[in-house]
Amino acid sequence: MSPLDLSVDELLTTTRAVRKRLDLTRPVGRDVIEECLTLAVQAPTGRNRQHWDFLFVTDPQQRAALADLYRAGLTSPREPAASSTVNRGDTAGWERIADSAHHLFEHLHEVPVLVVPCVRVADRKDLDWPVRRANVYGSIFPAVWQFMLAARSRGLGTAWTTPHLQYEQEAAELLGIPYATVVQTALIPLAYTIGTDFRPGPRVAAAEVAHWDRW
Ligand SMILES: Cc1cc2nc3c(=O)[nH]c(=O)nc-3n(C[C@H](O)[C@H](O)[C@H](O)COP(=O)(O)O)c2cc1C
Repeated sequence: MSPLDLSVDELLTTTRAVRKRLDLTRPVGRDVIEECLTLAVQAPTGRNRQHWDFLFVTDPQQRAALADLYRAGLTSPREPAASSTVNRGDTAGWERIADSAHHLFEHLHEVPVLVVPCVRVADRKDLDWPVRRANVYGSIFPAVWQFMLAARSRGLGTAWTTPHLQYEQEAAELLGIPYATVVQTALIPLAYTIGTDFRPGPRVAAAEVAHWDRW
């Protein structure tokens, strides 16, 4: 039984992107991280290859350098912006997200643990092919989300982020990751939350996204 004692449905509906409510002062022990990881690796991978790795960055200097790459990814992105963005979300809610994201931008280096989920590939060219790419990312994202759910159930908060990937190679050098064969897939800040009460997020109705038999 997890410490917060949430029902499965409560866990699935209240695992939010936590930024302002990350407790930057409370240390996160290895034990709880290892517990979350033990649950995370029950997730599926293509052909059960289990070609995932999770890097937990706790050293203050490493965190600071990685946070700098995150910030550079936002202020000086290498990739051109997407040509257009499909958005079904509530645009009025965007200001709150942007404010919260700005808080993370300023404090990322203070978050006690920065998690970098990685997946091994024989060759990075696999990412150029849509089906191979689906298998690569499909073999790590279920585990990442499972980790985030396990963290939430233990009073920890997380947020999915990707900007540091603009500087993935520099991050690989910083963290000693073999860039040619290990793909970084996200950067997840991990900390205890300030309070544990979270509500379901605003989402489109399931009926609006369901298609039956044909589009
Ligand atoms: C692929 C992906 C990329 C994201 N990138 C960022 C990010 O760079 N910075 C950030 O603060 N949040 C990021 N998020 C978190 C989303 O903004 C957040 O999940 C969304 O606003 C919904 O909020 P909620 O999960 O709390 O309901 C990302 C989420 C996903 C799935």
